[in-house]
Amino acid sequence: MNEIFRIAIDGPGGAGKSTIAKAVAARLGIDYIDTGAMYRAVGYKMNREGIPFEECPQLRTMLDSTDIDFVSGDIILDGQIVNSLIRTPEVSLLASGCSALPMVREKLVKIQRSMGNRKSVIMDGRDIGTNVLKDAEYKIFLTASAEERANRRFLELQEKGTPQEYRAVLEDIKQRDHNDMTRKLNPLAKADDAIELNTDGMSIEEVIRAVLDLIK
Ligand code: DC
Repeated sequence: MNEIFRIAIDGPGGAGKSTIAKAVAARLGIDYIDTGAMYRAVGYKMNREGIPFEECPQLRTMLDSTDIDFVSGDIILDGQIVNSLIRTPEVSLLASGCSALPMVREKLVKIQRSMGNRKSVIMDGRDIGTNVLKDAEYKIFLTASAEERANRRFLELQEKGTPQEYRAVLEDIKQRDHNDMTRKLNPLAKADDAIELNTDGMSIEEVIRAVLDLIK
């Protein structure tokens, strides 16, 4: 395939977007861009630098001097790989908080569009099909029930050796769903032309196949 094509994958947290997008990218030989990781990196940096979570001059200055990129699948914040630093429950909430700020979204959406216009990519997030890559050739909205998503995350955290109570994981998921769907700017929503895929009860391989079938 010579033409550039873009695949947008949106959906709530814990629906498996990253796992699926990464695998589909590897099979198609295209780049994967995890936009959630970008909001996580900004939330992490704001917290580290004590920047208030509101539109303020300190935030503007910080964003102007912030560099975010992906190199070989690693997320690089100001020259440092921050993969593991941004995958904590605390940073999940910081990311959700900073993602409601127009200054933050404006900066990250600009970077995401420039990444998505150069080459074929699969990009996942909340507003890719509705805003970042409105003209993406393929749009998928990946969902699963809150309980199924909490269960998957619960097992994942256990496997990683950082267990959390199931109830706390479920509450975190519900809180983030609420934040993501009710924020004023580019809330989580299915694009009219996106295909919805509910993954309840499906294995990872089944979901990968379903996505590959959709974009064939
Ligand atoms: O996908 P994730 O859990 O890593 O995303 C972290 C937070 O970033 C999530 O609460 C919503 C926000 N986000 C967003 O607002 N827009 C995106 N395109 C991606 C993520």
